[in-house]
Amino acid sequence: MEHFEGRVAVVTGGAGGIGRAMGEAFGHEGMRVVLADVQAEPLDATVAELRADGLDVIGVVTDVSSYESVESLRDRTLEAFGGVHVLCNNAGIGAGAEGRMWGHDLMDWNWAIAVNLMGVVHGINAFVPAMLEGGDEGHVVNTSSGNGGISPLPGSPQYAVTKAGVVTLTECLYGQLQDEGAPIGASVLFPGPHMLRTGLFESWRSRPDRYAKTRPRVSPYTTVEDLEEQMAAAGITVSFTPVEEVAERVVAGIRSGDFWIHPASERSDDQLRARTESILTRSNPSYLRAVPG
Ligand SMILES: NC(=O)c1ccc[n+]([C@@H]2O[C@H](COP(=O)([O-])OP(=O)(O)OC[C@H]3O[C@@H](n4cnc5c(N)ncnc54)[C@H](O)[C@@H]3O)[C@@H](O)[C@H]2O)c1
Repeated sequence: MEHFEGRVAVVTGGAGGIGRAMGEAFGHEGMRVVLADVQAEPLDATVAELRADGLDVIGVVTDVSSYESVESLRDRTLEAFGGVHVLCNNAGIGAGAEGRMWGHDLMDWNWAIAVNLMGVVHGINAFVPAMLEGGDEGHVVNTSSGNGGISPLPGSPQYAVTKAGVVTLTECLYGQLQDEGAPIGASVLFPGPHMLRTGLFESWRSRPDRYAKTRPRVSPYTTVEDLEEQMAAAGITVSFTPVEEVAERVVAGIRSGDFWIHPASERSDDQLRARTESILTRSNPSYLRAVPG
């Protein structure tokens, strides 16, 4: 998709972090932007700030784990702006499971699958038909993660499994859009190359009652600071990637039609190579790590 000016972008998980940065970047390209998020207060604050900067932005409170809610988001978008060209299925959560996976609360699985995986499916089902009907060029960007998308961190199976799923479903989407000869591209986004200091470690804030844990957590939730400590203890240099850098890469990736929006990183390439090599040589996984890095 080459032309951004005057076109419409929808970003889920847009109240903060990477979603907000993408919305801002699209706004600066002259796009009309719909930010969707399940957290109303931060969403309102973000929309007010971006509008004060002169960007054409609206906010729609949306829970991507509910198809009806994503359908309403589409209807509000069409009502407000008359079309849709870019869809970023970006809302995501860390389930916050603790201990070994055979003891994990099934609600942690249900919540992660509902938001990280079904949230993307809901976005595709609700928006792609409207994008095709509009007849213009367009693009779908689905946010995955190196954790799962490249190789899994065994400590967070819900996250890794759902983010691996996002890669596969985006490959299928790309293949089907190509088969149709549709003017719509698809990309999978790996934010990075380093971790991002966002609200992801406070995902519990956006957990709805219907996916509440069936028993309380025993240990406190892991914070970015805890993770920094663990990485430093494992001898890994801790660096963070600014969200603005990821957003710039998304705009460039859409413009050049790149399927993989994946920053060059020796570390990530080594992980991918080691995993692929393990599969190709039928050797047992020796690439699994305890912490990101
Ligand atoms: N932060 C990182 O290091 C990192 C790395 C790789 C991938 N990611 C992915 O990037 C995406 C954005 O995350 P972020 O890092 O900006 O974190 P974030 O927590 O700042 O942003 C995620 C947003 O999604 C919203 N959200 C949660 N559940 C929702 C729901 N059911 N419906 C609608 N919105 C919902 C949250 O309220 C939040 O505003 C996620 O998919 C995440 O998995 C993040």
